Amino acid sequence: MYKLSAPDLLIKESLKNCKKYKKIDYGNSSEKKSFMKGALMNGKKTDFPFFTHHQNSIYLDNAATTHKPQQVLDALNQFYTTVNANMHRGIYQLAETATAQFEATRVQVAHFLSAADPIEIIFTHGATAGINMVAHGWGNECIQEGDEVVVTELEHHSNFVPWQQLCIRKKAIFKIIPVTPQGLLDLSNIDEIITSKTKMVAVTQVSNAIGTQVDLEKIITRAKKVGSRVLVDGCQAVPYHSVDVKKIDCDFYVFSGHKIMGPTGVGVLYARKNVHAEFIPPFTGGGMVLQVSSEKTTFLKAPRCYEAGTPPAAQVLGLSAALSYWKTHLAKGILDHVALLTALTIEGLQKMPYVRLLGPIDQLKKSGHLVSFVVDGMHAHDVAAYLDQYGICVRAGHHCAQPLARALGYEASVRVSFYSYTSVEDVMFFLKVLETLHS
Ligand SMILES: Cc1ncc(COP(=O)(O)O)c(C=O)c1O
Repeated sequence: MYKLSAPDLLIKESLKNCKKYKKIDYGNSSEKKSFMKGALMNGKKTDFPFFTHHQNSIYLDNAATTHKPQQVLDALNQFYTTVNANMHRGIYQLAETATAQFEATRVQVAHFLSAADPIEIIFTHGATAGINMVAHGWGNECIQEGDEVVVTELEHHSNFVPWQQLCIRKKAIFKIIPVTPQGLLDLSNIDEIITSKTKMVAVTQVSNAIGTQVDLEKIITRAKKVGSRVLVDGCQAVPYHSVDVKKIDCDFYVFSGHKIMGPTGVGVLYARKNVHAEFIPPFTGGGMVLQVSSEKTTFLKAPRCYEAGTPPAAQVLGLSAALSYWKTHLAKGILDHVALLTALTIEGLQKMPYVRLLGPIDQLKKSGHLVSFVVDGMHAHDVAAYLDQYGICVRAGHHCAQPLARALGYEASVRVSFYSYTSVEDVMFFLKVLETLHS
C-alpha cells in the first residue's frame, strides 16, 4: 500500500524543510512571539540522557510517559548510594535523614499543587493506585445502594473502571457525561446527570486520548451544589499546567510521577482535609498504625494512615527533583511550547486528505499537548509500525479509553504527544514521514 523511501534521504529532506519552516512569517506578532518562545525550548534535549543513547529517536509518546532529566537520575542514585534507609521507622541518623527528605517532598508537593496543608498530600504508587484508594477507602464507606457516581466519556480506564466496579459492588448508579462529536463534554444536561443523589463526580482535567481540556468549573460548581464529592484526574494536566487544587475546588486530585519526568512507581493523591474523616485507610499494615492488639488496631493520623507499607522512598525523591526541574525550567514556557507543536502538527495533518483528526481542534491549537488521528484505510498499529521504521515513537490504539473510542466511532487512533524536549524538527520529520504513507 505504501512505498518505503530510504530513511537517510528522508531525514535530509525533512531537515531542509525545517529550516524553511522556521522562516515562515507568522503574520500576527503574538503568534510569532509564541513561536519564538516555543522554539527556544527546543534546545533542552541535552538535559535528558535518554537522547544521548537514542540520538535518532523522535519520541512523540509523552502522554504515556516522559523522559527523565539528569537531576532525577541523580536523585535516585544519591538516595541509594548515600542514604538507603527506611523512613518513619529507624532511630539512627540515616533513617532520620530519609524521613526528613521524604517529608520535605510532601511539603514541596503541597506547594506545587497549592494545597492548604501538607497533610493533604498522600504518596501513592501512581494515579491508578490513588483513584482505586479513593474508590475503595472512600467509596466503600460513603456509597450506598441507589446513590449515583458520575464519570465522563473522556475518562482513562483508570478513572472509569474503579467507579464502575464500586457501583456494581454497592448497587449504585453509574452515570456518564457524554462527549460531543467534536470530543468536548456535552454539559447541556448536566443538571439531569449530576443530581441530589450524586455522591461522587470523577472527572479528568485533560483527556489522554484526544487532548480535550475539560470545563471543570461548570462541572464542579454543579457537583458542589448537590453536595457531591469531586475527584479530578490530573495526569495529563500537571506536566503542562500550573495546578491550584484550592481554586479547582476538588476533594481529591491525582497524578503520576512518571508523566512529569519523575520515576515510575510514585504518584500523588491530594485528599482535602475535610474528607479525611470519611476516607477510611484502604490498605492496612505496617507504617500506618498507632497501636495493635489482638482485638483492635488504631491508626496514625493522615497522611500516614494512608501510606501502608514501605513507601517508594527513592521514587519520591526522584519526583522531588522532577518537580524542581519543572518549576525552574518549564513552568513559564512548556504550555506555549507544546501548543505550538500541536498547532504545527494539526496544520500539517490537515494538508493530508487521508487523515481524520480527532478532538476539539481549535482548543488543541491554542493550548493542547497532543494530537490524535486516524488514517483512512490503515490500522493505527500499522501507521505506528511504519513510523517506527524511521525511529518515530507514537502511541496507537484506544489509549485506555475504550468508551471514548466507541462514542467517537473509531477503533484505534494514532496519538502524538509533546514535551519540552520535542523540537519543531521532530514534528516536521514526523509529518514528512507520514506524508510518504500515501505517496
Ligand atoms: C488521564 C490519565 N489517567 C490515568 C492514567 C493512569 O496513570 P498510571 O498508569 O500512571 O497509574 C493515565 C495514564 O496514561 C492517564 O493519562
